[in-house]
Amino acid sequence: MSGETLRYEAAQFLNQFYEEKQYSAIARDNRKKEVEKSIQLTGTYEHTFAELEYGAKLAWRNSNRCIGRLFWDTLVVRDQRHLFTSKDVASSLIEHIDLATNEGRIQPMISIFPAQREKETPVRIWNYQLIRYAGYAQKDGGYIGDPDSLAFTKVCEKAGWEGAGTSFDVLPLVIETKEEGLTYYEVPEASVKEIAIEHPENEALASLGLKWYAVPIVADMKLEIGGLTYPAAPFNGWYMGTEIGARNLADEARYNMLPNVAEAMGIPSKHEADLWRDQAGVELNRAVLYSFHREGVSIVDHHTAAKQFTKFEKQEKQAGRDVTGDWTWLIPPASPAATRIFHSSYDNTWKTPNYYYQERPYE
Ligand code: ARG
Repeated sequence: MSGETLRYEAAQFLNQFYEEKQYSAIARDNRKKEVEKSIQLTGTYEHTFAELEYGAKLAWRNSNRCIGRLFWDTLVVRDQRHLFTSKDVASSLIEHIDLATNEGRIQPMISIFPAQREKETPVRIWNYQLIRYAGYAQKDGGYIGDPDSLAFTKVCEKAGWEGAGTSFDVLPLVIETKEEGLTYYEVPEASVKEIAIEHPENEALASLGLKWYAVPIVADMKLEIGGLTYPAAPFNGWYMGTEIGARNLADEARYNMLPNVAEAMGIPSKHEADLWRDQAGVELNRAVLYSFHREGVSIVDHHTAAKQFTKFEKQEKQAGRDVTGDWTWLIPPASPAATRIFHSSYDNTWKTPNYYYQERPYE
């Protein structure tokens, strides 16, 4: 980014920060001058903690695909910009997992590692999520584990990692630093909270041996605030049940469990018109929500989440801001038309600060 663009982006962000925080115009102008000077002298600038914190929250509030944005202001921001070695980054990530898991009362959280400096990336996390299950292709064309993780699992194996070969092997942390290159760290078992999936009424579902991890911590997106880029900034909320019950465990290209659920629960699956997939899907989603509740782990059902999103829309309107959104992502994958979101339309303009995809270092 040119110095001029950086100055512009920084000024835009600082205007918004000082206005929403209702700080004085004098303080704002002083800070803007300071930032301009820094860009002039060094080609870049540094966010104060308050700016970093608010920028990360705004990036969540601006995430068009997220239904959970009502809680944007509760995000806990961990400033980890002083960590440059993979050992320090790894222990910080494990601490993030522990703090965010919080014994099941999941805390929305982000850990922000050093900013990009021109062509130089100090820290990059290769994992899609900090906790994710490995996937292995078998000779017969089938899969063990999560087929979504095939390419990344190979990366880990190439480096000498060896999974136990179960359907739910937790992948290691893969951290790249400018100083050390690629390094690997196992996540301690005690830090990975997992929930065995049981059905509230039908005992047979448990026999499938399904489980899922408690906290989805997206680790491969970059955070952009005021023209600065943070390539390593893993963040988490809590799950919406359908992410697991209607996608991760259900999609044909993932764990593909609907036929197994139907069979275990005795749902006749001979004819599509019996809607056995739909029935099995509802029961699997009920089982996911029931199981997380049983273990005291935060989760939200899609009807409640949609209501919370409506509240978010009202709240934003009251604050004089318009809500942008990506309808195709906001609607839940189960019973979409039973939510208000389905019957609304959204402007999919991307505001900044925001979280963006970045090219995967593998694949
Ligand atoms: N859909 C992803 C998954 O199933 C998680 C994405 C983030 N989800 C969230 N509730 N914050 O693992």
